[in-house]
Amino acid sequence: MPQAAICIKNLTKVFSGDLGKKPVKAVDALSLDVVPGEVFAFLGANGAGKTTTIKCMMRLLFATRGTVGLFGISNQSPDAMKSVGFMPEQPQFYGYLTGREFLYFIARLYKMKKNEQKIRIETCLDRVGLTGRADQRIKGYSRGMMQRLGLAQALIDDPKLLILDEPMSNLDPIGRKEFRDLILSLKEQGKTLFFSSHILSDAEIIADRVGILNHGKLINTGKLKDLIQSQTTSIDVTFVLAQEKLKKLNLDQSQIVRQDEKNLVQLQSEKEVQTLIENIIRLKGNVVSVIPQKRNLEDIFMTEIGG
Ligand SMILES: Nc1ncnc2c1ncn2[C@@H]1O[C@H](COP(=O)(O)OP(=O)(O)OP(=O)(O)O)[C@@H](O)[C@H]1O
Ligand SMILES: [Mg+2]
Repeated sequence: MPQAAICIKNLTKVFSGDLGKKPVKAVDALSLDVVPGEVFAFLGANGAGKTTTIKCMMRLLFATRGTVGLFGISNQSPDAMKSVGFMPEQPQFYGYLTGREFLYFIARLYKMKKNEQKIRIETCLDRVGLTGRADQRIKGYSRGMMQRLGLAQALIDDPKLLILDEPMSNLDPIGRKEFRDLILSLKEQGKTLFFSSHILSDAEIIADRVGILNHGKLINTGKLKDLIQSQTTSIDVTFVLAQEKLKKLNLDQSQIVRQDEKNLVQLQSEKEVQTLIENIIRLKGNVVSVIPQKRNLEDIFMTEIGG
């Protein structure tokens, strides 16, 4: 088993209730491993605790309990942060700088050498599609452009791991498609990506695994393929068979929906489907289609969080 890129154990964050307010348990005993090279989507409704978890991972908040390891190093050690690029939720910038100036400022914070700064900045600008606008002041940027600049700064030190809080929330459909392609190209380079999102269709396309957070608790994690497969609701079989032979199919006749000369039945198991197909063929009928009715991530999400 490879060393986890992210290893969260029993993470809990309670915000103490100031001025008579009740304490809020924003993250509740969360444990999670992300393997290197994986794209992990951290999903949850507003207020589920995504940002709080990410802030604890980045040490922007002190966890009440629990530990976070990044490539085997505790996040309490400054060394752990060297492998991480981070983009906060709705990043804010100093508007009088241009995009390129801002990235130089960040590169200097990383103490990069001059020639390395230039190469990294141009590469990152190109990656996020901001090269043509890099000399414009940030205050004239759209929200989507700011989001791209936020991603460029996260990429500046060529980190092994990217932690992104709602990276797609301000992007239009074209921007989201470009962003998805960018994530996939980063994955191809072997990067590990952990991002929070409430845009389920985007997560469905790019994530290897998802975790669903509800009221601070991780209520499900898994490979999307498995989650979706485990939630197959029924299998629709459409077939052609002379009406008088339908009775010989060993089916509850009220289950059969007949339209023109086609018949449709919804079955629950592959075994039932197998038996039905054998019977149809034996009775010299034709199977037109066998379609598993799978649920999408949105259905799974709604069921899990009880929405
Ligand atoms: N500094 C704080 N003090 C008190 N409560 C807080 C604080 N920050 C967050 N919370 C509460 O913790 C809970 C989780 O908030 P968090 O911002 O982590 O959710 P989120 O999943 O990121 O939501 P969103 O999708 O809206 O970004 C919420 O109930 C929120 O009100
Ligand atoms: Mg948030």
